[in-house]
Amino acid sequence: MKVCVIGTGYVGLVAGTCFAETGNDVVCMDVDEDKVVSLRKGEVPIYEPGLEGMMRRNVAEERLRFTTDLSEAVKSSLIVFIAVGTPQGDDGSPDLSYVLAAARGIACNMNGYKIIVNKSTVPVGTADRVRQEISALTRFQFDVVSNPEFLKEGAAIEDFMKPDRVVIGTYEVRVAEIMKELYGPFTRTGAPVLVMDPRSAEMTKYAANAMLASRISFMNEVANLCEHVGADVHWVRQGMGLDRRIGSSFLFPGVGYGGSCFPKDVKALIALAREHNYPLKLVGAIEEVNRLQKSVIVDKMIKFYSSGLADQLDDLKQMTPAQVEQAAQMVTPAASEGFKTGDYSYQLSLDAAKIPDMTLTRKDMETTSRIVSEREQSRDGSPIKGKTFALWGLSFKPQTDDIREAPSLTIIEQLLKLGAEVQAYDPEATEPTRKIFGKQVRYARTNYDALRDADALILVTEWNVFRNPDFQKIRSLLKYPVIFDGRNQYNPVEMKELGFLYFGIGRRS
Ligand SMILES: NC(=O)c1ccc[n+]([C@@H]2O[C@H](COP(=O)([O-])OP(=O)(O)OC[C@H]3O[C@@H](n4cnc5c(N)ncnc54)[C@H](O)[C@@H]3O)[C@@H](O)[C@H]2O)c1
Repeated sequence: MKVCVIGTGYVGLVAGTCFAETGNDVVCMDVDEDKVVSLRKGEVPIYEPGLEGMMRRNVAEERLRFTTDLSEAVKSSLIVFIAVGTPQGDDGSPDLSYVLAAARGIACNMNGYKIIVNKSTVPVGTADRVRQEISALTRFQFDVVSNPEFLKEGAAIEDFMKPDRVVIGTYEVRVAEIMKELYGPFTRTGAPVLVMDPRSAEMTKYAANAMLASRISFMNEVANLCEHVGADVHWVRQGMGLDRRIGSSFLFPGVGYGGSCFPKDVKALIALAREHNYPLKLVGAIEEVNRLQKSVIVDKMIKFYSSGLADQLDDLKQMTPAQVEQAAQMVTPAASEGFKTGDYSYQLSLDAAKIPDMTLTRKDMETTSRIVSEREQSRDGSPIKGKTFALWGLSFKPQTDDIREAPSLTIIEQLLKLGAEVQAYDPEATEPTRKIFGKQVRYARTNYDALRDADALILVTEWNVFRNPDFQKIRSLLKYPVIFDGRNQYNPVEMKELGFLYFGIGRRS
């Protein structure tokens, strides 16, 4: 089939390449000339595993090409996908200007019947708006289809080639058949193609993303509460996830969700509901919990560095792993109670009176999250002023260079405002981060370089390369053996045995 994809971002480029891979004749069009120039040279401007090789092969075999010429792209195609960005507008609702500009551009360049497919994530009713815009500008017949995309960055090719389902929003049986034919190669293994009305298709995308975001926020709340009650979220998560009604995915607590979809789509759903005078109570809470969770690591750091224990870090550096292990036990309130009542048979070199209670109150979380919104620097009295932190992971999740709404950005901003220095490492997302923070952050060449003379390691994104590092090397490079693990990647018991003061999220050691 002759296919045109407008917009060559994470979605458009993957969709266009996968359609070409299954034998279609595809032209990808973008208004960004530099992007098109590099795509023509075979350079993929984003990091997406497997994409570059597949793209180059399809270009070489002349099934895939790139252009800035909308007229030629539309005229040469039967099916025209709109896959442009829908960034968040000022009131939380998506900015549809790119989608509507693309729609008008298509209308002005039609030379016959077209199927116009909206793949961008858009509010309910947008297919109708697109139809109106186009019909005002053309005399040719056309149909508008809503075909939301569910791929995940980092596994986009895999998701597109083997979708869980394909959603097609159209009233036209004939159009649905053509779309099914286009998606046929991807659904041969039995993935359902759901044909529904366009409004339900548009709503499905928002509801799915809000559901996934709600699981993350729910588990973050559970993890925070685990710290108050002395439970370990590691076990709670598994105990819940093995229930088939619940399932185990998207139940990992951490530093909050980011990326170009969840934050924007949750806010868009809230705005849509408000517009229809039916404010969503649950969805509002998902967003608020996530906002606070992005500061959970800095909340913990403030507690830790305000405590007497932090003053004794020089002693800690001299201690054997076994002594650190004992000291680390003191950091949980339950254990410190034990210490106070003299339940321990050994003499600790740390002062029990200074052992901090690391559980976070609502007020702790509110205070840190306010720091970033305050205009003034908050260095006076900052317990982390002048300290240096190694930060592993900048992208909003592993296997992508996308830093849109990444928790790392909030954490860096808070650390800088509190007068700390940051030495960051990420396998793919250094350059996009440099564009935001410039020289305010030092960017390390390797994950170990980031540790040199740092007061502690903060793990923010769970890239594979961070999963099983050389802990002896970490200990020798860091100024003090302290780890704040924002993704619960490491085992608290092992960390203590290795001589680290270790702080996870909702973990008990
Ligand atoms: N990124 C994801 O993981 C993902 C997943 C599912 C759905 N979506 C949705 O898909 C849409 C696209 O997301 P993305 O991440 O690919 O965006 P992106 O920002 O990476 O890319 C958008 C591209 O569209 C181009 N563009 C803008 N206006 C144009 C126009 N009038 N004509 C031609 N090109 C134009 C831009 O230059 C850019 O290259 C959004 O609505 C998003 O919410 C994204």
